[in-house]
Amino acid sequence: MIRTLFLQATRTVYELLARPLMFSTLSAQQAHEQALHLCARFDAHPLLLEALYRVTMPNCPVTVGGVKLSTPMILAAGFVKGTGFASEEEALCAVKRGKNIIPGWRSMPALVGAVEFGSFTRYPRLGNAGNVLWRNIEGTYSLQNRVGLRNPGAKAASAFLARNVPNGNFGINIAVSPGVNDMQQETGEVLESLEMFLEAGVRPAWFTLNLSCPNTEDDPVGNQTEDKAYHLCQAVVRKTENIPLWVKISPNLSMAQRSALMHAFAETGVRAVIATNTLPKTPPEAPHITAGVSGSILFDAALDTVQSLVCEKEKHRYSIDVIGCGGIMDGATYHSYRQLGVVAVQYWSALVYRGPLAAALILSEAEDLAQFRQEGFAIKLK
Ligand SMILES: Cc1cc2nc3c(=O)[nH]c(=O)nc-3n(C[C@H](O)[C@H](O)[C@H](O)COP(=O)(O)O)c2cc1C
Repeated sequence: MIRTLFLQATRTVYELLARPLMFSTLSAQQAHEQALHLCARFDAHPLLLEALYRVTMPNCPVTVGGVKLSTPMILAAGFVKGTGFASEEEALCAVKRGKNIIPGWRSMPALVGAVEFGSFTRYPRLGNAGNVLWRNIEGTYSLQNRVGLRNPGAKAASAFLARNVPNGNFGINIAVSPGVNDMQQETGEVLESLEMFLEAGVRPAWFTLNLSCPNTEDDPVGNQTEDKAYHLCQAVVRKTENIPLWVKISPNLSMAQRSALMHAFAETGVRAVIATNTLPKTPPEAPHITAGVSGSILFDAALDTVQSLVCEKEKHRYSIDVIGCGGIMDGATYHSYRQLGVVAVQYWSALVYRGPLAAALILSEAEDLAQFRQEGFAIKLK
């Protein structure tokens, strides 16, 4: 009861005051940068956020992809991913100086629970220059980004996380380096990244192999053929030291590709597939490039992907879980994934449109919806 009232009050404040003020004064990119500054501040003082978690999050544990989570909501990769650097040396110097190169490393797990960190590539990347984030795409609750895998690189990220150990469940998302097309080099870089985390003593609850990088001008389906996925996943599973491997795919794959990929994932011992990453589209101010859309616009394509993956899983009795991701903005969209048999989901855009307590709000709305449906059903039976 207290949880519901508190969530309703914070929702009203965010949606009627904070969000309109933020949207009218800051661009999507400025707001994102400010949010990360705030995260860095709270990394040093997480007590308030831990208290908020205790007040707002229900206790509803689930097991997915070999990992026990305290709720079915996971913050998706791309929020807590760290700053970009021009070189590995620069990134390592920053870690040595004690700089917080991964803002949100402590504050976000404290506030929302499970978080997927990354994507990290083998070497640091500055990402794309200029404006790389847009909101309200086509007048909907959607974002579009071409951040371009900005990150500090696996070596500096692992050195940082070895010194600053996140509390609770977290995953590490490793991406294949964009622009690297040689299969051996690709696999070598992914394995090196993985080893760096493990050798530094960083043991996440899961690793995710991001096969879908649509914002880097790289071919978004290039790593998502059966052969490549099989080769990469087989090599990675052998190295993860019993830490479950998840993979992340795009929403724009053909049915044949989805089916072939599920086969490769099941054969190589992947424990879960995250569907999906963003959908490449032309951004509002730059018709000559593409950028990935997320949020409401992504919902149909992501749900369709999840549905076909679940069908494949059932048809072939694959022991691999499907994690929904794409356009989960409220209880109803969350419920659509759950109806397909999905036990856990990831979200990102909801943080912008529903506020920092989005995960707790979505779960509370889903609870109300389930209760309403049960009661409605009971009334019909009478
Ligand atoms: C600004 C931004 C950066 C992102 N960066 C990454 C990334 O580095 N790695 C990744 O796997 N997904 C990344 N994503 C995709 C999200 O993890 C998620 O798959 C996508 O946003 C769909 O979820 P949503 O509709 O709830 O936002 C990013 C998304 C956004 C909005």
